[in-house]
Amino acid sequence: MKFLIVLALIGAAAATPLSADQAALVKGAWDKVKTSEVEILAAVFTAYPDIQAKFPAFAGKDLASVKGSAAFALHATRIVSFISEVISLSGNSATAPAIETLATELASNHKNRGVTQAQFNEFRTALTNYVSSNASWGDNVASAWNQAFDNVYAIIFARL
Ligand code: HEM
Ligand SMILES: *[C@@H]1O[C@H](CO)[C@@H](O)[C@H](O)[C@H]1NC(C)=O
Repeated sequence: MKFLIVLALIGAAAATPLSADQAALVKGAWDKVKTSEVEILAAVFTAYPDIQAKFPAFAGKDLASVKGSAAFALHATRIVSFISEVISLSGNSATAPAIETLATELASNHKNRGVTQAQFNEFRTALTNYVSSNASWGDNVASAWNQAFDNVYAIIFARL
């Protein structure tokens, strides 16, 4: 039993932090899309209407009718700002605890809203599609991007 607990702890710690080079690749890709907040959220909702359905302000509404609203821009900006903040903290072991704090808060807010791991994975898929088709993208960028998501999602999923 103790052995299993030790293994579990090693597993949790096995997140591979981004190197400075990997963080630079992620930042470079993100910089190309981070001012397209509304388009990003619209792409997520289009691909996965079940995510839209969890937002009280947008549930049951036609995307085209809410996309231009101030409420939509506000939500889109919150989500994109969160990602920008996490990315800006990546690639530096000194700021890993700050990422952990942000991810933990996000998990607890979203757990309270009944958001599932499957939905977080959907969000990841839609966002990755958006970024990979709108920034210069190659295996090195993809691998850094995926590592970043794996790290943050490991923290979130442990608490969701
Ligand atoms: C994947 C499915 C997700 C669903 C269904 C979801 C749903 C929601 C809902 C319902 C709210 C509250 C909106 C309101 O005030 O009425 C919210 C807020 C927020 N979401 Fe999400 N969310 C998801 C994923 C994410 C992800 C992946 C991020 C960040 C990368 C994120 C970042 C935020 C932020 C920063 C807020 C505002 C702060 C807060 O109230 O927690 N969300 N989300
Ligand atoms: C790339 O960006 C454009 C413009 O914002 C957007 O319409 C398109 O959906 C994006 N690509 C993907 C795959 O989401």
